[in-house]
Amino acid sequence: MADHKELTKRFLDIYGGSEQGLHIFHAPGRVNLIGEHTDYNGGYVFPAALTFGTTLLIREREDQQIGLASTNFELRKVLPLEPIVYDEADDWMNYPKGIVRELQSRGYAIPCGFDLLYHGEIPNGSGLSSSASIEVVTAYALLTLSGHPTDKVEIALLSQKSENEFNGVKSGIMDQFAVANGKKDHAIMLMCDTLEYQLVPFNSGAYKIVIGNTNKRRGLVDSKYNERRGECDAAVEALQSAFPGLKLLGLISVEQFNAHAELITDATVQKRARHVVEEIARVVRSVDALKHNDLETFGSLMNDSHDSLRDLYEVTGPELDALVDAARQVPGVLGSRMTGAGFGGCTVSLVHEDSVDRFIQEVGQKYEQATGLKADFYVCTIGNGVEQLQ
Ligand code: GLA
Repeated sequence: MADHKELTKRFLDIYGGSEQGLHIFHAPGRVNLIGEHTDYNGGYVFPAALTFGTTLLIREREDQQIGLASTNFELRKVLPLEPIVYDEADDWMNYPKGIVRELQSRGYAIPCGFDLLYHGEIPNGSGLSSSASIEVVTAYALLTLSGHPTDKVEIALLSQKSENEFNGVKSGIMDQFAVANGKKDHAIMLMCDTLEYQLVPFNSGAYKIVIGNTNKRRGLVDSKYNERRGECDAAVEALQSAFPGLKLLGLISVEQFNAHAELITDATVQKRARHVVEEIARVVRSVDALKHNDLETFGSLMNDSHDSLRDLYEVTGPELDALVDAARQVPGVLGSRMTGAGFGGCTVSLVHEDSVDRFIQEVGQKYEQATGLKADFYVCTIGNGVEQLQ
């Protein structure tokens, strides 16, 4: 958690004035426990909010401008509230800018200007949803302070829309949803087609969630991500002769898929589709296992998920595979998989508390030997979704 006194001092150094009227909001990052590349196919995901994310300090201004600053980047600006236009040179600021524009276009008037200072606690580019966390905290704070309703499902949707349209990243709903709706010690079983969700207590007893960061730059992630989305669309089209009107791959069962898989003549597209339908079934089974305190089964489904993302969906790469392989060799590890979009970023493992130190040491060493890169590890607890702290 960030030091609020220190951040307040930074805020006053940048914007001047006094602490009066200064508010603090927080939105977490997220880790997806299982259910990868299923959200944009209308299937299940099972993410959880982290305790670290983005802290936002915000105070009203007397004019119609918005001040944007961050403790993580030098870049700082004061911009008029209207018009808001995407500008590549504005870098990270395009996330809050997109939110301001999305709120305005939905008719949520922002009656006065604001000064904002962001403090990001999520390592950049780690795939733990730093952008969703910036979007959601901005939307929640601006809606709250402008006296508008703060429906967290709508906040997730408008944040996703802003990321898709203003920032041009075609992500699904999982990240924004988890960041907005997370709850301490719970994971979220979300059906991405209907947005029906269930908060499931994550009672992992002596087992800890350990995130491993490959520290591999996720260079190709956007283009490969969009390529996978295209392959899923192609699979849906091929299956339509058996399922007229089918719009989302996630809406057919494994049995239905198996009965008609040969309609997908492109072998690569068929592999992608198989991953999606089987992964959705894995989410259902893993939530069931968790509810029965069967962490062994949960862990082994995490392993299956990774293997499928490696062999069928092909979004892992040598770094994620090396980290997962090393993790699975440590006694006391129930399961280990990549989390998020893939091609770098992070893994998530379920590790017995007595093995955590050994895990960090041995996995770190093997990973460095295999890749020449140093991994970082975070032992996590599950935190709340977006909230006002002050
Ligand atoms: C990224 C996207 C999500 C989701 C995952 C893969 O994190 O932002 O919407 O598609 O990849 O599961």
